[in-house]
Amino acid sequence: MKAREIRPGVWWMGAIDWDRRLFDELIPLPDGTSYNAYLVKGTEKTALLDTADPTMSEALMKQLSEVPTIDYLVVQHVEQDHSGSLPLVMDRYPEAQVIASTKAVALLTDHLGVPQERIRAVQDGDELDLGDRSLRFVDAPWVHWPETMLTYLPEEKLLFTCDLFGSHLATDELFSGDGRHVCEAAKRYYAEIMMPFASIIRGHLERIETLDVDMVAPSHGPVHDRPAWILDAYRHWVLDAPSNLALIPYTSMHGSTSIMVDHLVEALTERGVHVRTFHMSKTDLGELAIHLVDAATVVFATPTVLVGPHPSIVFAAYLTAALRPKLRTAAVIGSYGWAGQAAQSTQSLCAKLKVDWLDPVFAKGLPDAETFQALDRLADTIAERHAGLEEGEPR
Ligand code: FEO
Repeated sequence: MKAREIRPGVWWMGAIDWDRRLFDELIPLPDGTSYNAYLVKGTEKTALLDTADPTMSEALMKQLSEVPTIDYLVVQHVEQDHSGSLPLVMDRYPEAQVIASTKAVALLTDHLGVPQERIRAVQDGDELDLGDRSLRFVDAPWVHWPETMLTYLPEEKLLFTCDLFGSHLATDELFSGDGRHVCEAAKRYYAEIMMPFASIIRGHLERIETLDVDMVAPSHGPVHDRPAWILDAYRHWVLDAPSNLALIPYTSMHGSTSIMVDHLVEALTERGVHVRTFHMSKTDLGELAIHLVDAATVVFATPTVLVGPHPSIVFAAYLTAALRPKLRTAAVIGSYGWAGQAAQSTQSLCAKLKVDWLDPVFAKGLPDAETFQALDRLADTIAERHAGLEEGEPR
């Protein structure tokens, strides 16, 4: 893909990774991704913001073969999907100065071996003069590393945001427009990467509101040429109360837990609680993460393996706690062969979740009438806790 102009003197560069299906050996990428770099040309100086994943260096270097001079290489975020091609770009432009936040300086040496003498640290509010235009840096730590900064180009009312407002989406559409074809990918990205830092992102959103922004250019996915929808979506995801939605990550070995899940789904539905199940041996983890953005309740449903929860539920519980969603209520249900402590173990995996734990419901072997009554009582309690919650965003 050739460089594409997004504003006068500002070009999208980088690579579209159509085939990548996994990030960090963990996160499914059903729609691929992109690594966006941006070239900003002033009358005096030229800057490149971010680079590309090292696996896609060739695409970026080909675009740069038509750029004779770069004065500044701005690193907004050190993670390798954006900075991995930096050493190659530095070799091509030996006079270029690397510009990074104070916290990024050591990380650039640790992760990429960048010599300290080539780096110029900048602080929040510092400006880089390019002639007829300037770049102003905005500290934005913990989206999702400690060193991240945003870059504001006031002459174009353009905010470069690296991971923030990004989406793992490979597409030939340069712009997100009204957001219809990007919103789900952006929500998935928020859920998987940004949600643990929601309280910090609130502050960043307030800061961004003080800037005059017509366009938002993240380093994954399309550029937001009408950014109101993505800013509104982030406000909703970060600030609003959870919705009337209960999630049931589950697995079943011989059918007992599955029967209990079916009963609970029906009981919740009858009581007006929206519910989604996720078979943890088959589901795309991102689907669970996306729904955790809105859910008020999670019920882990697990058979007992070696007195504890099934490993796929261990994974679901660990992931749920790590993502720090807005959940209010949680429970564990399931079955066991002769004895077990699956409920206690699952709960302890989620020690950091600030939720009310409801009484667990477990069956020895096949669930009986007493088990179903206990599941009905659990559904009653969840419905009471959900009273007054919004119905949530359709997907
Ligand atoms: Fe897209 Fe945190 O890297």
